Amino acid sequence: MDYKKLKQQYQTPFYIYDFDEVKQRFFALKEAFKARKAQIFYALKANSNLSLLKMLSELDSGFDCVSKNEIARALKVGAKPYKIIFSGVGKSEDELNFALENNILYINLESYAEMLLLEKIAKNMGKKARISVRVNPNVDAKTHPYISTGLKKDKFGVSIEEAKKIYLYASKAEFLEPVGVHFHIGSQLLNTAPIAEAASIVANLVKELKALKIELKFFDIGGGLGISYEKNEPEPNLYDYAQGILASLKGLDLSIGLEPGRFLVGKAGVLITSVLYEKQNEDKRFIIVDAAMNDLIRPSLYNAYHEIILPYSSGEISPCDVVGGICESGDFFAKDRALPSTKQGDIMLIKNAGAYGFSMSSNYNSRNKVCELALENGKIRLIRKRESFEDQIALELECLKG
Ligand code: LLP
Repeated sequence: MDYKKLKQQYQTPFYIYDFDEVKQRFFALKEAFKARKAQIFYALKANSNLSLLKMLSELDSGFDCVSKNEIARALKVGAKPYKIIFSGVGKSEDELNFALENNILYINLESYAEMLLLEKIAKNMGKKARISVRVNPNVDAKTHPYISTGLKKDKFGVSIEEAKKIYLYASKAEFLEPVGVHFHIGSQLLNTAPIAEAASIVANLVKELKALKIELKFFDIGGGLGISYEKNEPEPNLYDYAQGILASLKGLDLSIGLEPGRFLVGKAGVLITSVLYEKQNEDKRFIIVDAAMNDLIRPSLYNAYHEIILPYSSGEISPCDVVGGICESGDFFAKDRALPSTKQGDIMLIKNAGAYGFSMSSNYNSRNKVCELALENGKIRLIRKRESFEDQIALELECLKG
């Protein structure tokens, strides 16, 4: 790829996503589950760019949404309501209303109280709400604590006992229809054994419910598949992942729901930035670039590793910190990384940034959000314009006048 030309045309920083790589990953995952009825519901939170969603929708992907606006984004690109599900620990009344009005496939409930609220809304609307319950199987995902969600101490889902209470109530309620069960034990799992363990616990619940004449249709295994951020880090084997799930479902007639986010888009995205300055503070070398933690917060927030490449710098290699220009020391992309010496304007690639990159970006330090590009069938196109100062202040300006 001619990054210099891209920089000339779009300026830096910007994100670029390889849509063909996303497609390949989508089909590889689908293939692994082909022995069963299975539906991929892409988790929008990883990257919710409309052009990406449109491309996935055209591949027949479904969508896992965690806010009203994520549902609205999916609908905007033509996703069918029966391919949309709604997850999240804190859905508001307005959001539940919206989901129900739009006849989405099902809502993943995370508490008894949420069920009661949904029942009330459904009754007012005169509609039956299709529900699934997010079970917390108390399994250790062995990933970063901020993105581990399947332990008793985590805020997510309900215990098996509480789930049974919800199913028993819902199965008798006129305006609720239990159709599925859901779990998601964490993100960036390189070892999928804990997911298989969770599946087996949740499958036992499905069997118990069956004995009580509560028949479910969907077995939603969440997302969580990890990707290799560091060179030579092995990615999970999709076949083993699928087999681990399928083994628990023997004798059960259920459709599998998958909610991958990172796995589909993480490796396909790069944040392109330019070197502003190099400096040496005592014996510490810094490369200061024009992207910052507001554009990609993963290193600051999780101490996450992102591979960095300087395709046009050939100077001597030595350790350095790669940092942004934001006024806090937590604003960094890499620490003690061996990189060549650079000069002003050199292009830098921060790799594997397609997931939780732009979607977690902010206007901190009043910086404009960057633009996004897509590479598809050998062609590059703009899929989000760079924000302008006017865009950024529009909502405040209105109030200033008033
Ligand atoms: N389903 C549910 C209910 C989730 O909570 C999540 C992610 C997913 C699916 C998608 O998980 P994935 O396949 O992407 O692992 N910002 C963090 C990741 C947070 C994940 C939150 N939940 C990061 O940058 O690593």
